[in-house]
Amino acid sequence: MSRIVVLDFGGQYKELIARRVRGLSVYSEIHPGRISAAALADLRPDGVILTGGPNSVYAEGAQSFDRGLLTLGIPILGICYGMQLIAYYSGGTVQPAEKSEFGVFNCTYKGNTIQALMSHGDRVFSLPEGFEITGFTENCPVAAYENRAKKLYGVQFHPETAHTERGTEIIADFLFNVCGCKADYDLDDVIETQCAEIRRKVGSSNVLLGLSGGVDSSVCAALLAKAIPGQARCVFVDHGLMRLDEGDQIEAIFSKRELDFTRVNAGERFLSRLAGVTDPETKRKIIGEEFVRTFEAANHGEAASYLAQGTIYPDVIESGKSSTGGAATIKSHHNVGGIPDDIDFDGIVEPLAGLFKDEVRALGRKLGLPDYLVERQPFPGPGLAIRIIGEITKERLDILQKADYIYRSAVDALPFSERPSQYFAVLTDMRAVGVTGDDRSYGYVLALRAVYTDDFMTCRYAPLSHELLAEVSAKITNELREIGRVVYDITDKPPATIEWE
Ligand code: XMP
Repeated sequence: MSRIVVLDFGGQYKELIARRVRGLSVYSEIHPGRISAAALADLRPDGVILTGGPNSVYAEGAQSFDRGLLTLGIPILGICYGMQLIAYYSGGTVQPAEKSEFGVFNCTYKGNTIQALMSHGDRVFSLPEGFEITGFTENCPVAAYENRAKKLYGVQFHPETAHTERGTEIIADFLFNVCGCKADYDLDDVIETQCAEIRRKVGSSNVLLGLSGGVDSSVCAALLAKAIPGQARCVFVDHGLMRLDEGDQIEAIFSKRELDFTRVNAGERFLSRLAGVTDPETKRKIIGEEFVRTFEAANHGEAASYLAQGTIYPDVIESGKSSTGGAATIKSHHNVGGIPDDIDFDGIVEPLAGLFKDEVRALGRKLGLPDYLVERQPFPGPGLAIRIIGEITKERLDILQKADYIYRSAVDALPFSERPSQYFAVLTDMRAVGVTGDDRSYGYVLALRAVYTDDFMTCRYAPLSHELLAEVSAKITNELREIGRVVYDITDKPPATIEWE
């Protein structure tokens, strides 16, 4: 199989580059930029892409780079900082540009004008021998270059982002015409390889999976059911703080598969532990701890030798860990609130550890999971507990579940391209005076939130139409007498967070 290695120099788009390559059906993986030439050669890549990064190549403390990489004869494409690295280590000069470029600029690339996303303070000033300029902008005379004999290529702009016109074509040209890659990476093969790998690893042992109902653990469960029917056990701790009917939906899907599915209805226990608690951090701690205890109790006496986790590739990249560690250090499962690290297992199975989120979703669809499960927005482990401000009671939980359902259904009806990344309702502990018929009312204030984000580290509030908001507000206040007013949260992150607690 063809393979592209992306070397990470700290640029924010490293994952995007690797995903673009996979989107062109070529397998890609990300490695640290400081890798030695010998270690890179061992990976046998057909080509290498160097990412951007925040440093200056000449600055003290700039990330170390093995210049031996440039003489391996493996084609290399440098993007932004990566482009400057190749030029600098081949004998060219890099200096601060007179004018930084941040944004979309006209770029003449190989004789055509394209819109290109630039984001740089430094630029290549003089090129080493054997390099030719292939692109320029008004402020950047060397915006792209090539040295065909040495198979070294560079672009100052970011072809991996959607903002750059014909960016995918530029990457495809490098993969197929320069590196000679074949478009032979296919998710169907991933299913087959991962099933074989799971069978090889666990043999006839049993595997335990903590199922949260989130995308990753659900796809992991479906894969286990296919790979080792009858040997996988899923424990779904329903803490009762899911969205409307969500627990039943998860049970309906997984109880039909070839795995031993246990749903533990722990709603009442969680509610009684949460009674009277209003502090957000205390709520989270109680839920995390209660989750672990329930999970342990459900697993008591079972002979599972392996623990399966829905870890995905970005988790591996961010934690700097390889998925093939072998040792049974059990990473806390952020989706489900933390499986204890003192549970004894012979090993861990992480069949999704090489896949990006969009690939995990595609795999889920191929394994027959319904769209609403595979496409679901992120949902916090503590569930609606952190969307009920103040005390959590059964009554308040019911109100929020119903109101949230009305709101989500309206937003779900929008075309996919307009749908925000995350949207939900929050039940506040504030009440407001109103008039219902001839009577005075005193109902809760409900807040609606919807945000656009790629990484969930920052977000912009989604400017949903007033028509949609008014319709949702009318429906909620008509159907739920306990709610007196509906307000819309228009705060970005920062300064706010996405959740209210
Ligand atoms: P914040 O509120 O920090 O949320 O801006 C960022 C993203 O993380 C989700 N979130 C959580 N997910 N356990 C989770 O698995 C949690 O405790 C948790 N808290 C927040 C939130 O929904 C958003 O997508």
